Amino acid sequence: MRKKVTVVGAGNVGATTAQRIFDNGYADVVLVDIIPGLPQGKALDMLETGPIVGSDSSVIGTNVYEDTAGSDVIVVTSGLPRKPGMSRDDLLIKNMRIVTTVIEETTKLSPESVVIVVTNPLDAMVQQAFNVSGFPKSRVVGMAGILDTGRFRTFIAEELNVSVDSVTAFVLGGHGDTMVPVASATTVGGTHISKLMSTMKLEQLVQRTRDGGAEIVNLLKSGSAYYAPSASIEQMVKAILFDKKEILPCAAYLEGEYGIDGLYVGVPVKLGASGIEEIIEFDLSEDEFTALRRSADAVRELVDVMAKAD
Ligand code: NAI
Ligand code: 2OP
Repeated sequence: MRKKVTVVGAGNVGATTAQRIFDNGYADVVLVDIIPGLPQGKALDMLETGPIVGSDSSVIGTNVYEDTAGSDVIVVTSGLPRKPGMSRDDLLIKNMRIVTTVIEETTKLSPESVVIVVTNPLDAMVQQAFNVSGFPKSRVVGMAGILDTGRFRTFIAEELNVSVDSVTAFVLGGHGDTMVPVASATTVGGTHISKLMSTMKLEQLVQRTRDGGAEIVNLLKSGSAYYAPSASIEQMVKAILFDKKEILPCAAYLEGEYGIDGLYVGVPVKLGASGIEEIIEFDLSEDEFTALRRSADAVRELVDVMAKAD
């Protein structure tokens, strides 16, 4: 029997994720949204690409959670974008409420699923999902590090005129201004990055990575990135469905690792059928370690705001 993946939120990120999973035939897909007709229309359009792309998966759109029962993976992309006049904290609380409802509805119908949270602010939302779900920490994971690392690898490959496949890198920490591109773990074809470009150039690429989401928002004018985000989610879904045990940067609940306790932060993890199977502890430089702690502090501030609003 084919696996089942539910994607909540049929907007840009959710619909593109559903399309990637459907096109590749990885699983049957259920696309959920609160807007009547939106997930149904997108799902039917996707289904009709089956004969063209050679996918025998099913994909349905729905406004009710009963259709999601028995899912192996739940991807949460539902949420509001920041609007003019809305503070970061306003967005935080509004999306916290959306994520809470979605997690309550989905997890009771798919109690064995692995939950991937995407909604922003990412690290706070995955923390909320973990608290509400009652799931073990291994089965609630956040997507951001693969996206941020993808951006970093793209910029390095462009600068050095090499294949993206030759660039190995990891971006850790929270998904925001404090994210930590780990220079000490960045290599190109096995050669350390410090031998291939100046510190100043590398620092420019690090900054462009930190600003990566905003760079796209500024170009699009309305809405944010979704091609690279959905590709990042697809990689995580694939690692879980096919038990790949892939080492990927994801938001994981830390209990002492990297000196951080009781908080979701982006770190390298081994991702397989049971979700996060291991947290990998890199040897970081002193500066990187400090930057990761600082990033965790920024995440904790948001978590504290949520706790007061509860
Ligand atoms: P979008 O606005 O295109 O789609 C969001 C969808 O969620 C809409 O269709 C809306 O109707 C739906 N929705 C709202 N409340 C809902 C509810 N209670 N139940 C079900 N559906 C509901 O936004 P987009 O571009 O798809 O982004 C989605 C989220 O993902 C945003 O919070 C965005 O900031 C975040 N994001 C996170 C990334 C990451 O690296 N973690 C990368 C890209 C986006
Ligand atoms: C991004 O980094 C909006 O979080 C999203 O593109």
